[in-house]
Amino acid sequence: MSNSATLGDHTAATHSSPDAILGTYKRQAALFVRGEGVHMFDDTGKAYLDMVSGIAVTSLGHGDAGVRRVIEEVLEAGLIHTSNLYRTAAGERLASWLVAHSFASSVFFCNSGAEANEAAFKFARRWARAQGHADKSGIVALRGAFHGRLPGTLAATDRASYRQPFLPLMPGVQIVERDLEELRAVLDPETVAAVIVEPIQGEGGVRVLDPTFLHGLRELTHERDVLLIVDEIQCGLGRTGHFFAHEGLGLVPDMVTIAKPMANGLPIGAVLANEPVTGALQPGDHGTTFGGGPLVAAVAEHVVQRLSDPALLEHVRETGCWLHGELTALMQRTGKLRAIRGMGYMWGLDTHEPAAPIIARAFAKGLLLVSAGEHTLRLLPPLIMSRETLGEALRVLEEVLGEG
Ligand SMILES: Cc1ncc(COP(=O)(O)O)c(C=O)c1O
Repeated sequence: MSNSATLGDHTAATHSSPDAILGTYKRQAALFVRGEGVHMFDDTGKAYLDMVSGIAVTSLGHGDAGVRRVIEEVLEAGLIHTSNLYRTAAGERLASWLVAHSFASSVFFCNSGAEANEAAFKFARRWARAQGHADKSGIVALRGAFHGRLPGTLAATDRASYRQPFLPLMPGVQIVERDLEELRAVLDPETVAAVIVEPIQGEGGVRVLDPTFLHGLRELTHERDVLLIVDEIQCGLGRTGHFFAHEGLGLVPDMVTIAKPMANGLPIGAVLANEPVTGALQPGDHGTTFGGGPLVAAVAEHVVQRLSDPALLEHVRETGCWLHGELTALMQRTGKLRAIRGMGYMWGLDTHEPAAPIIARAFAKGLLLVSAGEHTLRLLPPLIMSRETLGEALRVLEEVLGEG
């Protein structure tokens, strides 16, 4: 059959093949067709307990009734996209909510985490230029960081295998040890515009950065007239038990980037910024066709309100403390873990055995896990997951670790 015949025939059954998707991911073989709460289901009806949340995205779980109602309301109104040439109530309400609940004076919307960080880098450079510093363009990231896969964010990502095939990346980006003395030597007010930091490094192995270090970094950046960008794309919006991780630390950044769970699975990212940065930006300085459109913004407005609910945050903090105890006991009982790190609903478990076969054995038993490096398992359950269900997940995990 010719392509043109196939293209017009919407009734023809389409064969689905994994090979038709460019092979940049190793995917598990099961074909997922449905979600409900903390479970995903494949096309044979097998249930999988979700300890990944689509990599820290579906914090409210799957098939959430509130999310569904908002989507239905937007579809009813018929306006999914307008472009950023026009005002929409949903975008303005979401931005106003974020401004009212943060340090920021305004918000830039985009479509993903990497885009949010790329935008923050541009904003930092724009701010420096607006101050008259022609050479103040440097971006400093930290050892173990992950900020995305686009040329700027990849330059700020400390993983050789991700970077090497794509060199040269964006110039002017340096990766520095997580050490104030090293940073003191590097943060030249004439050449460095911003430092970017994840309060908990997610992909880098779930490393919770020392609060004293983070406060020292804030002081140093103030002293050197360098902006501090806090990347909360993975650890933000409730995952640590605080709506913003920096709030829990008592830090006031210059910009914060968020994305993943913002609309519980619809693509949206944002840069939250305050006056010195926002004052430097003018129409035409940055743009995106889709960013913050009516559908994603309406869903995100609903989701951020839910994720900031004090009762949910308290549940995450309390259950997180309980999880810490359970994981410590599991480590002692099994002898299969070398270390555990994390807080709230974000944990990294260093394993003796490589993580990949453990994840494969868990998958076969209907438990979804993800890694953070070759020897680290990462637990990112939906924030709605109960203690009982987490206990069930840990029982399967213990079984699976025992088979290694
Ligand atoms: C801390 C952090 N920053 C940035 C990103 C990039 O986000 P995205 O995959 O939406 O581009 C991620 C993704 O895992 C992340 O964890």
